[in-house]
Amino acid sequence: MVASEATPYAKTGGLADVIGALPVALASRGEQVAVVMPLYREAAPLLDGAARAYDSLPVQLGTAPWNVNVRSVENRGVTFYFVERPDLYDRPELYTEAGADYPDNHIRYGVLCHAALAVAKRLFRPDVIHYHDWQASLCAPLMRVHLAGDPTYYGIKLLLTIHNLGYQGLFPASSLTDLGLDRNLFHPGALEFHGSVNLLKGGIVYADAINTVSRKYAEEIQTHEYGFGLEGLLQSRSADLHGIVNGVDYSEWSPECDRYIAHHYSAEDLSGKRECKADLLRTFGLPADNVGRPLIGMVSRFVSQKGFDWIEEIAGELVREDVAIVAIGSGESRYEQMFRDLAAAHPDRVAIRIGYSNEIAHKIEAGSDIFLMPSRYEPCGLNQIYSLRFGTVPVVRATGGLDDTIDESTGFKFEECSGTALLTAIRAALVAFRDRTRWLSIIQAGMNKDFSWNASAAAYSALYRQLGG
Ligand code: ADP
Ligand code: GLC
Repeated sequence: MVASEATPYAKTGGLADVIGALPVALASRGEQVAVVMPLYREAAPLLDGAARAYDSLPVQLGTAPWNVNVRSVENRGVTFYFVERPDLYDRPELYTEAGADYPDNHIRYGVLCHAALAVAKRLFRPDVIHYHDWQASLCAPLMRVHLAGDPTYYGIKLLLTIHNLGYQGLFPASSLTDLGLDRNLFHPGALEFHGSVNLLKGGIVYADAINTVSRKYAEEIQTHEYGFGLEGLLQSRSADLHGIVNGVDYSEWSPECDRYIAHHYSAEDLSGKRECKADLLRTFGLPADNVGRPLIGMVSRFVSQKGFDWIEEIAGELVREDVAIVAIGSGESRYEQMFRDLAAAHPDRVAIRIGYSNEIAHKIEAGSDIFLMPSRYEPCGLNQIYSLRFGTVPVVRATGGLDDTIDESTGFKFEECSGTALLTAIRAALVAFRDRTRWLSIIQAGMNKDFSWNASAAAYSALYRQLGG
């Protein structure tokens, strides 16, 4: 597998959760899996004892040498190879800093892909290269076009997983030369997209098979509304397009054993959940008397994908309900400001943390009554699935993985793209909250769902076999 993030080494979102867990689930089914990812600054403290797998692995972009060192660790049956190149990866953030993408991101991920193919040549010979999102997509044209004559790669199959079609890796046409790519790839049947280089498009065109992270999103991305301009291409590959829903690493995300929450609890004994709620209120500096009110939680990147404009639209009306709200996230300053204003206007019932904290994310999952995830689109979404296990009832828009994983017995869904529809769904949840018997049955139905990786890993194994013949 080739990817740009994986827990516990580096994370900005759900991709990291998947790359941290899926390979391990595959390994426990008997697959041999290696992951290639960059050695970022935030991974370094975890790699003290890492082996030097290869010094000065040859990597070349055109005529420019970009040799890398490769470090490796074994983690629960999986080899993680880290591409060490401090000038590219030893930075404060993964992709963007102060709101702007690193200007050399095409080089950073171009080097990752070249290095991954060199790992496949010298360190780990795979049957399938399974590459994720735009950051790893260059693997496909590199292998199929640039290395087409190298027998090392004969027989290797290419599987792309799209975790989010909204991020395609668009770069100016000149980046083709920086990446050492053949000029012939710059046409609409390959990497060109309206005059730019589109790396994800290259990943789609040259893949043997493609999948995305829920069944519904696999359908949606073939439509104009969700296709971000690639719907035609995806339609043309529909025979090779699969939807495999993500799983959950329940060793990380379960109220019975969670290492961050104040009290453990289970579907049979929910008493600890109230303690978690009190602890969450304390953590956010909200008065303890909120414990009787429905507490709405959010953990998210603050981007328009996640439906924050609808929250902005209804915030005034929402706080007129008898609710308390806690949220953690960061992203677009407009949404950060919206939450700051809301908290300033209602300091006794609304609190916000701008930033990233895994510990607080866990506390919100456990201590909230309702989890809000009104995404415009959502390829899979993990927080709503974590919420189910924590007995925190999701209110979601019926799109992508949210629609596939939440049903009427476990949460509240709305379809229409509007603040009004969102508010109606929240109000329905608040009515249910006041009916203790009904609420308990919703909580327990969610807690009893099983989204462990077993089933999804089996589906990936089957897809690898189908590709490999
Ligand atoms: P996406 O990958 O689109 O951001 P997902 O729901 O798939 O959405 O995954 C988000 C992951 O990132 C979850 O594990 C969630 O807990 C985590 N996360 C998002 N924002 C934060 C934050 N501010 N602090 C801690 N964890 C966060
Ligand atoms: C992306 C998507 C999210 C998905 C995650 C892991 O970040 O936005 O819906 O859960 O990838 O597949």
